[in-house]
Amino acid sequence: MPSSIIQAIRGMKDILPTEMLYWHYLETTVRTVLESYGYQEIRTPLLEKTELFCRSIGEVTDIVEKEMYTFLDRNGESLTLRPEGTASCVRAGVENGLFHSQIQRLWYMGPMFRYERPQKGRYRQFHQIGVEVYGLATPDIDAEVIAMSHRFWHHLGLKNITLQINSLGSNQARIIYRQQLIDYFSAHYNALDEDSQRRLQTNPLRILDSKNPTMQTLLSAAPKLLDCLDIESKEHFEQLRLLLTEMQIPYEINPCLVRGLDYYNRTVFEWITQDLGAQGTICAGGRYDQLVEQIGKKPTPAFGFALGVERLIALLQQETINLPNNSPHAYLIIVGDASTRHGLRLAENLRSQLPQLRLLTHCGGGSFKNQFKRADKSGAQIALVLGEDELQKQEITIKYLRTDQPQICVAQTDLADYLKPFI
Ligand code: HAM
Repeated sequence: MPSSIIQAIRGMKDILPTEMLYWHYLETTVRTVLESYGYQEIRTPLLEKTELFCRSIGEVTDIVEKEMYTFLDRNGESLTLRPEGTASCVRAGVENGLFHSQIQRLWYMGPMFRYERPQKGRYRQFHQIGVEVYGLATPDIDAEVIAMSHRFWHHLGLKNITLQINSLGSNQARIIYRQQLIDYFSAHYNALDEDSQRRLQTNPLRILDSKNPTMQTLLSAAPKLLDCLDIESKEHFEQLRLLLTEMQIPYEINPCLVRGLDYYNRTVFEWITQDLGAQGTICAGGRYDQLVEQIGKKPTPAFGFALGVERLIALLQQETINLPNNSPHAYLIIVGDASTRHGLRLAENLRSQLPQLRLLTHCGGGSFKNQFKRADKSGAQIALVLGEDELQKQEITIKYLRTDQPQICVAQTDLADYLKPFI
């Protein structure tokens, strides 16, 4: 009896060749913008010691409490598949001395893992492109980083994405605010849903993030963090707003924007679309000035964000975007055993002469008719035919697959020159 088919793990999906066009478009566009702002790529391992995430993301966050893929390795050490990139980036920077009196503008791209309830736009393995800047405490960098993310959407051809900002202030301001929230929500304890009742003592700020419609009136009447800000954070926020206005980047202030990770202070922001349903946040981040000190030694201010690649791809798929064509320029049809050896050599020579040429060589034999069908299906512009006749005359017959032009014969020695205009 055949064994059952093994399927991918729930919440983890294959990215098929047809989707890759979008991925490459996104990656190339974003990379070009990042390089134009002077960012350098960093790659860190997918696995880190569990303690790294507990210490940075926060013990009482959803991620650490219930979403991490954690296991003991063969040595009994607790390891975790990274749920995000910021903690690893800080760890790598500290470990490799990247922060010694230096400003670093870093970016990374890759899979992240969270054991969340899968739904459209929410996966257990998903990809982020992340950006982190170290060594700058002033709001000009907050503004520049946000402007860069704004430029991503423009270059990608995406519209209707709105920017929400907020300030979480200093640690001291948040301690005062936390107590105000506990007092307020305790007075309305019965109006809180189960999740929020649980969060009341552990992480009351996260209650503000609740999407539960029955709690929205309660949330909008809650004390505002912006009213508790320390003077420096207030000034920082005012400066950021001024700079965003100066750069003509529209924004909304969302006093309930608190983020799901504990390392933030002062500026936080999210880019949101209405076109993806419930999972509309496509990019999010903020300032995290204490994290480097928490993981390493020397205090180093930091600011960054990550965008959700799958969500952006879903948006791109809804738009009419001119994706770069990656189908072959030419398809080499080889008819007859005698032609095979010569055909493969000819193809290799063409590739050496024209490194940009996308040439698909027919392998596996078969009649001319079948090969021609495949050539057509491949999306190539032209078919290069090498049969017994062409072999003898040292020629190639060129058939046009997308136009009515009559076929022609070209000397094999002239073929590279002939193909140049097709590339
Ligand atoms: P985050 O808000 O947890 O922040 O994730 C950033 C983005 O990743 C989200 O806005 C969303 O687009 C995408 N994302 C998150 N979870 C999933 C999921 N399960 N499925 C699909 N997409 C998802 C961070 O991770 C911070 N490290 C960002 C940051 C960098 N802050 C400072 N520097």
